[in-house]
Amino acid sequence: MAERSATTSTIDRVTGGTRLRRLRRSDWVRRLVRETDIRVEDLIWPIFVREGDGDPEPVASMPGVFRRSVKGCAQAAREAAALGIPVVALFPYTDASQRDETGSEALNPDNLVCRATRAIKDAEPEIGILCDVALDPYTTHGHDGLVRNGVILNDETVDVLCRQALVQARAGCDIVGPSDMMDGRVACIRAALDGDGFGDTMIMSYAAKYASAFYGPFRDAVGSAGALKGDKRTYQMDMGNTAEALREAAQDIAEGADMIMVKPGLPYLDVLARLVDEFRMPTFAYQTSGEYATIMAAAQNGWIDGDRAMFESLRAFKRAGAAGILTYFAPKVAEALHRG
Ligand code: PBG
Repeated sequence: MAERSATTSTIDRVTGGTRLRRLRRSDWVRRLVRETDIRVEDLIWPIFVREGDGDPEPVASMPGVFRRSVKGCAQAAREAAALGIPVVALFPYTDASQRDETGSEALNPDNLVCRATRAIKDAEPEIGILCDVALDPYTTHGHDGLVRNGVILNDETVDVLCRQALVQARAGCDIVGPSDMMDGRVACIRAALDGDGFGDTMIMSYAAKYASAFYGPFRDAVGSAGALKGDKRTYQMDMGNTAEALREAAQDIAEGADMIMVKPGLPYLDVLARLVDEFRMPTFAYQTSGEYATIMAAAQNGWIDGDRAMFESLRAFKRAGAAGILTYFAPKVAEALHRG
């Protein structure tokens, strides 16, 4: 029996008799009417690959995240596939001795990412592989492109990125993810792939990638933090802009992107929702290293419930319309989802 009081008639008048709390009364009904949820199929797991054979090496600023050997990546991919995670994304920790001004290691068909790609395809042919197209893990200056007199060169960089994408496609990567924010790169990469017999290789463009403070731990993980000279504001987007994100996405789609991405994730949820609404493309969110580290650090201090914060943040992406999420939590969430 619902409670009745002197105010009931007022409440009935303003609500028209509708009591929205009725559907929140117990767990089963909340689950019954829940509009969005996270599934293992929504997850893309970014993993870091390094030289050598040793055990996974922890990344200090990303508790629970490791740099793995090539073999270790294959093992991780096998675990990911067993959990039902559809895609892993590969990022290399390139030895300082292999970095140079032009990031030439990016074009080495035997670089870490290519070797890891082949090892994963060998071990687990049924998992998708996403490779990042950008030069920052390979350059001594830590920028995503070629630099002359302090200026990041657009067109010359795009030439190199096309060759990098080809090297990755030849190694067996399924999706290339240009994360560099150069103009016109999607069209050029598409043409390069098609011209080399890789018409089926997909492009997930980092369409709206902002110059953000939330990439810090990632730059530790790939070893470009100390190297980076200046910042990336002449190519990554300004944090105040949304209309520009729509233009970036429209451009990438017109150039042939199969999927688009917004990065970082939570601080740009509005941008994600708008892109989904506007373009109806498979649109992904990247929950960046800084977002991951923020949740982990607070959880480790006992300031928030880490598991709940993890699920809440991931559900937010789905609620905003994301097709999927790149997240360092992927294996942890997948395990939790399997436990039920
Ligand atoms: C490289 C790249 C970055 C990330 C993904 N690809 C760093 C950057 O642009 O400086 C960040 C990922 C993360 O923070 O988790 N272009």
